[in-house]
This record gives sequence, C-alpha cells and structure tokens, in this order.
Amino acid sequence: MTDTIRIVEVGPRDGLQNEKTPVSVADRVAFVEALVAAGLTTVEVGAFVSPKAVPQMQGSDEVLRAALKLPGEFHVLVPNEKGYEAARAAGAQVVAVFASASEGFSRANINCSVAESIERFKPVIARAQADSVKVRGYVSCVLGCPFDGEVPVQAVVDAATTLWDLGCYEISLGDTIGVGTPRKVRELLRACAEAIPMASLAMHFHDTYGQALANLYAGLEEGARVIDSAAGGLGGCPYAPGATGNVATEDVVYMLEGIGVSTGIDMDKLVAATNSVAALLGRPPVSRVVNALNAK
Ligand code: HMG
Ligand code: MG
Repeated sequence: MTDTIRIVEVGPRDGLQNEKTPVSVADRVAFVEALVAAGLTTVEVGAFVSPKAVPQMQGSDEVLRAALKLPGEFHVLVPNEKGYEAARAAGAQVVAVFASASEGFSRANINCSVAESIERFKPVIARAQADSVKVRGYVSCVLGCPFDGEVPVQAVVDAATTLWDLGCYEISLGDTIGVGTPRKVRELLRACAEAIPMASLAMHFHDTYGQALANLYAGLEEGARVIDSAAGGLGGCPYAPGATGNVATEDVVYMLEGIGVSTGIDMDKLVAATNSVAALLGRPPVSRVVNALNAK
C-alpha cells in the first residue's frame, strides 16, 4: 500500500457544525490556517446552509475567503442553488452536494426526499459545470440510518451512481452514524465500484462505535484511496442523533505512516491545531493519538 492516499480534512465543517459552543469566524480561520500549516492540502471549511438549520456554519463566506488566500483546495457544502450562489460569491472553486441513501435522514437533514434532493442538485451541478467549479457528492447513511435502520447496498449504489452520472468528480460515502464494520465496508465499496471508479470513491466514516480505522483499513485493501477525517476526531451531524465525530486525522495519519504511506503531514503541528480548538471548546480531543502524544 505505497501509493498516494488523499486526506480530505473536514474538521472545520463536519467537526464544528454540531458544537454547542460557537466557534468564531476568526477562530475557524485560525484553525484552517493551522491545518494547512500542518500539511493538509484539501480542507472542507464551511457550509452554505440555512442558518436556522445549522447556526454554527454562519460566516462560512468569511472563512472561505480567508482560506482561499492559502495554498490548497477548499471545499464547502451547498444544499441548493441559494447556497451555491452564496458560495460562488465568496469565491468557491469546489462545492459539495449532499444526498442520503435513506429517506428518513434525507427528510431530517435537508427537509426533502432523496429524489427531491437530486432535483435540487441538478441545477447546482449544471451551474457549477458552466462556472468550471468542481462538485463533490456525498451520500450519507451508507451503512445505516438513525431513522430507517438498515440501508440496502443498492440504495447507496443508486444514490452514488446518480450523483456520479450528474457530474460529481468524487463520491464520498458517509457512515454518518458510525455503525459499519469492515466486511460491510468491503461489500459496499465493491458494489459502488461497479459503477464508479474506486479511485473516485471517498471513505467518510464517523467513529461512533470505534470501527472507523478498521473500516478504513478494509477499504484501503479494497483499493479506495481517499479518506475524509477531522482533526482531533471532532464532529457529528446535528440531524443524526447520537452520532459522534469523524475518524480523527491524527489517528489516520499515524496508521498510514505506520503502514508505509507517506502523508506529508507534520503530526506535531496537527496536534497543536487540534489542541487549540479543544481549548476553545473546553474539552479534550477524542483522538487516541492526540491523547497519547499529549501525555508524553
Ligand atoms: P427548507 O426549510 O426546506 O428550505 O430547508 P426552504 O427553501 O423552504 O428555505 C427555508 C429558509 O431557509 C428560507 O429562509 C431560505 O431563504 C433559507 P426564511 O425565508 O425562512 O428566512 N435557506 C437558506 N439560507 C441560507 N443558505 C441556504 C438556504 N437555503 C434555504 N443554502 C435546507 C432546506 C436544505 C435549506 C435546510 O434543511 C438546510 O440548510 N439543511 C442543512 C443541514 C445540514 O447542514 N446538515 C449537516 C451537513 S450534512 C452532514 O453532516 C453529513 C455529511 O457529513 C456526510 C455524512 O457524514 O454522512 C456530509
Ligand atoms: Mg459527516
């Protein structure tokens, strides 16, 4: 496993969108700057969603504008054309649309059915293509839904294929509530890779049940090469009750370096970035690696 593995850092978005303690725009910008300084080259920095739905992401325009002065690729979520327009006004070059493989989560998260969400994304993707803006596609609840329970693999393949066929350059498979286990991850990736190149599938695993690293390793063995993670293991979705954070970037980096994959990430700088945010939030990071290094 010596080929390149790309990490998409989602801490400033997924990591902070569910925090009860609001993190100011200035502190979010400082977090992004620290992540870039640590060597992360792709960072999701905000979301252009309804401020009533997710107040934590207000000011994403200012965060994005500041991020775009840094080297790297910066992503933002957009749920509809209104979000797309605001993201573009702030200079977005990469946007992410987010669908669900399950109806219950789609309704709770974006207040529409899966089919309706696709209809909303069509004009967003068409406009992005006309503007030469890249569009990433998320599919949530790929290994289970907090409302509907088991999610059929075919429902994931259908949603992922639809977004791919519409023109998304990469499909990120979200285990939103962190219930997956390695064999299921393998089956899911194999099924999706029949329609979408494995190189264009990302693994976005929350760590609620402590399975995320094992699931990532299984996915790497299947040939997947893109990992979404959040510094310190921050995160959770306000519309996925009980779900905890994304797999921690530090834990991913430690594992990758340990198996001979060079990440180009400076662990000390990354841990410092995480510790700064943890101080703002008033609680220690959940990352095992961060805690081990902090205890040294
Ligand atoms: P709605 O209420 O059905 O939308 O919400 P609407 O079009 O009827 O608009 C209602 C109000 O929202 C209006 O304002 C709109 O202007 C405003 P009002 O007239 O009441 O003052 N509005 C907006 N404002 C700012 N930006 C926008 C926007 N759109 C409408 N883009 C909507 C539908 C999708 C907007 C709402 O449900 C929403 O914003 N949801 C976002 C939920 C969210 O951000 N969830 C977390 C991210 S997804 C995630 O975490 C999963 C992921 O990590 C992968 C994984 O882990 O699986 C990606
Ligand atoms: Mg997520």
